[in-house]
Amino acid sequence: MSLEYITGQFAIDGEFCGAETWGSGHINDTYRAAYQHHGAVIHYVHQRINHHVFRNPEAMMDNIARVTAHLKKKLGPRAARHGLTLVPTRDGAAFCRDEDGNYWRTYHCIEGTRSYDTIQTTQQAFEAARAFGEFQRLLADFPPPRLLETIPDFHHTPKRFAALERAIGADAVHRAVNAKMEIQFALEHKPLCNILLDANLPERVTHNDTKINNVLLDEKTNKAVCVIDLDTVMPGLALYDFGDMVRTATCRAAEDERDLGKIHMEMELFEALASGYLTATNGFLTPTERSLLVASGTLITFEIGVRFLTDYLQGDVYFKVHRDGHNLDRCRTQFRLVESIAAQEPEMNRVVANLA
Ligand SMILES: Nc1ncnc2c1ncn2[C@@H]1O[C@H](COP(=O)(O)OP(=O)(O)O)[C@@H](O)[C@H]1O
Ligand SMILES: [Mg+2]
Repeated sequence: MSLEYITGQFAIDGEFCGAETWGSGHINDTYRAAYQHHGAVIHYVHQRINHHVFRNPEAMMDNIARVTAHLKKKLGPRAARHGLTLVPTRDGAAFCRDEDGNYWRTYHCIEGTRSYDTIQTTQQAFEAARAFGEFQRLLADFPPPRLLETIPDFHHTPKRFAALERAIGADAVHRAVNAKMEIQFALEHKPLCNILLDANLPERVTHNDTKINNVLLDEKTNKAVCVIDLDTVMPGLALYDFGDMVRTATCRAAEDERDLGKIHMEMELFEALASGYLTATNGFLTPTERSLLVASGTLITFEIGVRFLTDYLQGDVYFKVHRDGHNLDRCRTQFRLVESIAAQEPEMNRVVANLA
């Protein structure tokens, strides 16, 4: 079995004594393994990288190795618990490959923590946003060379929109007829696409997958301990990360909820997010970035809705689907959330102004 083989590849002292599947990630396969060393049991996290999603694992691991090394330097003695620590292979590499050609990496396990798949409390929203903000702050002085763009144009909304227009034109699987309202919504909101790109914002090192389940929280205190899942760390705009937090953490309903009556942007959660994020980013965020916090939520939610609609029209080629019309359902929740954010934008901007 490949996990057994893997346990011998990394520079771990101690004897492997068992592993369990770990966490609830949707992309990679994650295991927590126990090793016995001088009578103590030490845990490590082994991950099989999904190389169908990440087409260039070497470049991705190069980014992760540089970012974790920088964070380690900045965090000093706090790094052991507040930063991810990669365990090198016995040859000193950041990853290894198994007999089947899969890529594996290993991290120190951060004990006494857990992650949540959906937002439950305002404290979680505050803590997650503070952690992602802190992550950006620590990387604000990341030295050249520029990180590799492992997924080019990941948040280039105009290009995402152009892909939608091509999908509408081609109508390859004859589904446009089922999505008339959503297509109309997208076309009417096309001017949203450029709001961040036109603002001339500084490029930064960003996380790009700022869902709440990518922050480990302390099991006892619920305080944020560590940002994880660095697969999409790349050059980007700070507001891509904040916008995606607004999209995923201000609405308690699932991304594929069919009852659109449940889709609202909750002001209380937004206030907690903005407060946590601004607490951490106070020192470096520019006034223009600050002024576009709310707009970034609208934009990223719209962009993901556009991607779901595109995939629906192309016949579900990118996102995994579990039922008919799944991607159209996902598109509808996103567009409903865009409307909810737009309706509350003035109040959201007041909240931000009061925090500043
Ligand atoms: N270093 C770690 N220490 C403790 N738990 C971890 C660690 N890394 C990951 N996990 C757990 O494993 C889960 C999946 O990891 P993640 O890197 O987010 O993978 P995916 O890309 O599949 O989402 C996380 O949600 C978290 O619960
Ligand atoms: Mg994850």
